[in-house]
Amino acid sequence: MNNSDISNKLEIHKCVLCYDAPCSQIYKNINPERIIRAIKFENQKGARMLIDNKDTCLIKKENCTIVCPRNVNIDKIIKNLIESTDKLDNFNNIDLTTYICGVKLENPFLLSSSVIGSRYEMCKRALSQGWAGVVLKTICMMPIDESSPRFSALKDWDESFIGFKNIEQLSEYSLEENMETIRKLKREFPSKVIIASIMGRDEEEWEYLAKEVTKAGADLIELNFSCPNMKHKKTGSDVGQNPYDVEKYTKVVRNSTDIPILAKMTPNITDMKIPALAAKKGGANGISAINTIKSITNVNLENLVPEPDVNGKSSLGGYSGRAVKPISLRYIAEMTNCEELNDMAYSGIGGIYTWKDAVEYLSLGCTSVQLTTAVMEYGYRIIDDLIMGLKIYMKEKNYTSISDFVGLSKNNLVNNDLLDKVSIEYPKVNYDKCIGCGRCFISCKDGGHDAIKFDDNRRPIFDLKKCVGCQLCRLVCPNSAISKAIKRINK
Ligand SMILES: Cc1cc2nc3c(=O)[nH]c(=O)nc-3n(C[C@H](O)[C@H](O)[C@H](O)COP(=O)(O)O)c2cc1C
Repeated sequence: MNNSDISNKLEIHKCVLCYDAPCSQIYKNINPERIIRAIKFENQKGARMLIDNKDTCLIKKENCTIVCPRNVNIDKIIKNLIESTDKLDNFNNIDLTTYICGVKLENPFLLSSSVIGSRYEMCKRALSQGWAGVVLKTICMMPIDESSPRFSALKDWDESFIGFKNIEQLSEYSLEENMETIRKLKREFPSKVIIASIMGRDEEEWEYLAKEVTKAGADLIELNFSCPNMKHKKTGSDVGQNPYDVEKYTKVVRNSTDIPILAKMTPNITDMKIPALAAKKGGANGISAINTIKSITNVNLENLVPEPDVNGKSSLGGYSGRAVKPISLRYIAEMTNCEELNDMAYSGIGGIYTWKDAVEYLSLGCTSVQLTTAVMEYGYRIIDDLIMGLKIYMKEKNYTSISDFVGLSKNNLVNNDLLDKVSIEYPKVNYDKCIGCGRCFISCKDGGHDAIKFDDNRRPIFDLKKCVGCQLCRLVCPNSAISKAIKRINK
């Protein structure tokens, strides 16, 4: 990254992605909000493609920074993009078709069960914008009463969510209202996939719900064995932690419907393979993972109440969003690498914001992915860059179908004792990019092996006798000036 890249990045960070952005009404021929959104959602090349006419795009009616609530220098961002040398490929013919338990999806992106898929009007809007399907907010027969407020977040410096906590339970709509939602969605969107998430309190309720959602026309059923916020004992994650109950309820549903069944797993457990195997034994066709992780995001230091503060008290709640992706990927990989479980379908969930996150899940063996927190933070519109970014990636990698890369990274995961322990990959500094901040120096000195010296120009010099190749320096470098290897050598 050179200084102009950094100032461009900071400029982009200033943009808050306004709804119906005022800047987009000022510019002619381009939509700055759409372009900056593409950059923010890791679709840099797509952003460049959104500017098709260099000459006319910068003609605007008046200065856009005047209307921008954050004074973002949009001209500068657009000019930098136009000057970028990214290759422009036509990616429109890339087919994103994939399958979940044999059911066709037009692309791998589903709304996961939550508030974002709780009402007909909301689902209709999402499906119209390009989502391949929706897992409806969990349908149940128990009374649901929620608290206010019900969310809290761990935030980054730019106010974006690092992680998100909710203390919400299940659908507040009646069974009949939910059945009508399924019927209407299937009628209006026959090629989209409608998945009914259900949760019963006993075998009779599981059976009844499975039969009702099947009758209403759901394409698949997802069994919620994983909500961590349930008031009723022996429901939600209590079930997911008990393989006996997982198998019992899966079997009841299997005997009540012909449509495919996904079992949604709780991460509040050590080994997810155990309940996953129980679900398979009970007749599930696939696994959805993960639901949220029991958490406390923060405690208010004034009144010492954890958040969300519900009239002076709080409770543990489910953690989701960016922070949980590494935990979810681990569970997915453990299941897809398990011989007895590798014939199951996997729908990956947890911390997916961009097409890159999705590719990680797919490469570990999922054939579809589900999102909630990213949509709660930015809206259904994020589907634009999920689809476009994935298509551009596939075009560049010469993948003609999603199945070309599903599961490809699975085999690259081995036990620690099977890793190469005899060679060292030293870090390499690009002195044109190095700004002499000394972050590598201090991290190596206090958190590494004291293998970096500063020369008179504040440039890092590596002592290869001390360097063990841990590459903490590369990870802390704020300017991407340290790259992976001079060369790999034997110790
Ligand atoms: C506000 C909120 C409500 C949720 N409600 C449900 C639910 O009713 N049923 C369910 O199976 N999962 C529910 N979830 C879990 C999500 O479907 C998903 O598994 C989890 O949030 C992780 O994905 P994410 O990081 O993309 O949000 C909920 C999550 C949130 C944030």
